[in-house]
Order: sequence, then C-alpha cells, then structure tokens
Amino acid sequence: MYLLAACMGAAVLIGLWQYRGREDGRQGDKNSIRIGVLLYRGDDTFIGTLRSGLEDRAKEYEQETGIKVKLDIMDAKGSQNTQNSQVERLISLGCDALCINSVDRSSASIIIDKAMDAGTPVVFFNREPVEEDMNRWEKLYYVGADAKESAMLQGNILVDAYRQDSRILDANGNGLVSYVLLEGETSHQDSLIRTEWSIQTLKDGDVPLEKITGGIANWDRSQASALMEQWLKEYPGQIELVVSNNDDMALGAIDAMNRAGIGANSIKVVGIDGTPVGIKALEEGYLFGTVESDKERYAQAIFDIVWSLSLNQDPKDRVPQLDGNYYWCPQRALTQAEAKVLKNQ
Ligand code: GAL
Repeated sequence: MYLLAACMGAAVLIGLWQYRGREDGRQGDKNSIRIGVLLYRGDDTFIGTLRSGLEDRAKEYEQETGIKVKLDIMDAKGSQNTQNSQVERLISLGCDALCINSVDRSSASIIIDKAMDAGTPVVFFNREPVEEDMNRWEKLYYVGADAKESAMLQGNILVDAYRQDSRILDANGNGLVSYVLLEGETSHQDSLIRTEWSIQTLKDGDVPLEKITGGIANWDRSQASALMEQWLKEYPGQIELVVSNNDDMALGAIDAMNRAGIGANSIKVVGIDGTPVGIKALEEGYLFGTVESDKERYAQAIFDIVWSLSLNQDPKDRVPQLDGNYYWCPQRALTQAEAKVLKNQ
C-alpha cells in the first residue's frame, strides 16, 4: 500500500516536472521543432543564398543537438495574398516559429495578427516591417543589412577610385562622371535608402556627377539588362558609370554591355550583395565593386533567433549582438583587387 502511494506520488511529481519543463520551454523537453520559412520570391539570387544558409544551419544544429528540425520552405512568388495563406497553413501545421521575408513590408500587420493569435513568434528578414508593426509584440524580430551602410560603402569604393585617378570614372575627362542608376523595388526600404546614400556619398567625396538617367528594375537581372540596352542606344558613348542597388541588376547591365560589344570595365559597374555570381564577375573584371553582406552570419542570426524562439529560450543568449529585437548583418566593400586576393587565399 505504502509502495503504491509512493509510486503514485513519484509519478505525479515527474508529471509536474515535465509539465513545468514544457511551460518554461527548456531545450531538453523538445526533441523536434518545426520552422516555417516564407520567401517573397524563391528565384531571387540573394534570397537564395540565405535560404541555403538556413538549410545548412538546420542540418548542423540537428546533428549537434539531436533535436530534429523540420524546415517548411514556401515561395510566395511575389504575391502577398499567397504568402498570407502560407502563413495560415504553416501555423495550422504547428510550426513553432516562422522566418518571414514578406512580399509587401507594409502589409506585415496582417501576418502579425495571425502570428499573435496563434502565439507563433516571427523573425522577419531582409524586408523590414515598419517600426509600428515591429513594436506590437515582443516575439517579433528583424534581421537585415543596414541600407545606409551598404550605400555608403558602395559610394566610397567610387570615391576612392576617383581620388586615386579621376580618369577611372571620368573616362572622357570632361570633368564630370556621367552615370545611370538601376533601382530595386520602389516599396523596398533598401532601394530608396541605397540610392540616396550612394549618390550622397559620391557628392560628399567631391566626385563631380552628372546623372544621365535611371530606372527601376526590381532587383532583376533581365529587367536591368533591357533598361541598359535601351540606354546604351539612347546615350551612345556617354555612360561612364552604372550605380546599381544590387548585384543582379549590375550583372544585367553587364549582360547588355557584352551584347553591345562594350569591353569589360570600360563602363564601371557597381552593385551590392556580394552574391556568388557577383563575386565571380568581380574576380573576372566585369564588376568594378560590390558590398558583400556576410551571408553566413546573416543566415546564422536568423536561425539562432528562430531556434531560440522555438525552444522558448531568450534569443539574446545565442545572439548577443541583438539590438533590441534587431540584428544588423556586417558588410564590407569589395573591389576587383580584393576579390582576387580572397580567391587566392
Ligand atoms: C535586397 C537585395 C536584393 C534583393 C532584395 C529582396 O536587400 O540587395 O538583391 O534580394 O533584397 O528583398
């Protein structure tokens, strides 16, 4: 009788301990987690590098901890409506947390409503929700690269080149650097800020500028290529510099130059991202410069935060660089010379 009572008491205690463990979410209590990853477009080159980074981290963490990680990755193909349904679906599948690269950053509130109702934490990345939305819940995080910093690094590559020899950028020596501008999506915080600050940095660096024209190519290589093809016809022999908000559009401009038989580097082209294709073009002397965001750390930060949230832990313990609920990924400027050095290391 005493033995039975003791056993029952022990069972109750163990049950209670397990319940409390679930409540405070100690890692040891979960042997699997499910994470939803939502992409604005699966065919975006830069986002593709982050996606593979997340997949790598998931495998690595699974092996290290024995906790099974199920990653559900969904592509919204540029539709916010599709993404909203994907959020609902992933929540109903029981995801512990979501990583969201929202289609329309100003529509984040719809997603946040759904996540808050279900108690599912969210790590937004690359497309930053407005501050008002971010402040709605403590379980909302953002990981990105600071757009002003990218732009100033891009601008300074050009300022340095001009100071070294003005003819590098002012090829015809008329005292003005004649440039065209390739911009990303109008709704994206990075486009506006990058455009403003790369040009401002050139002005602050006393580079005399003349804007020939500019256009929106939505981060896309083929759209940029079509614009550049048209500009090369409209302004023959006049373009000395292409300032692009990202590497893919810079590569599109280079494609058009190649089709028009314009030699590598005769028109200087600068991008941002440091994607593998961008860096290859830099090494081969087609791209004049880029700004590389540390994609390993970018993906690592997203994963560390989502991992902690899934296990009910404080993300700050894993990501001490968190600034409130924001993580800013480190970036660096890369020129052709630096890219070659890195390749030979
Ligand atoms: C930017 C990046 C672009 C594109 C875009 C998508 O930060 O530079 O290449 O990936 O994000 O939101």
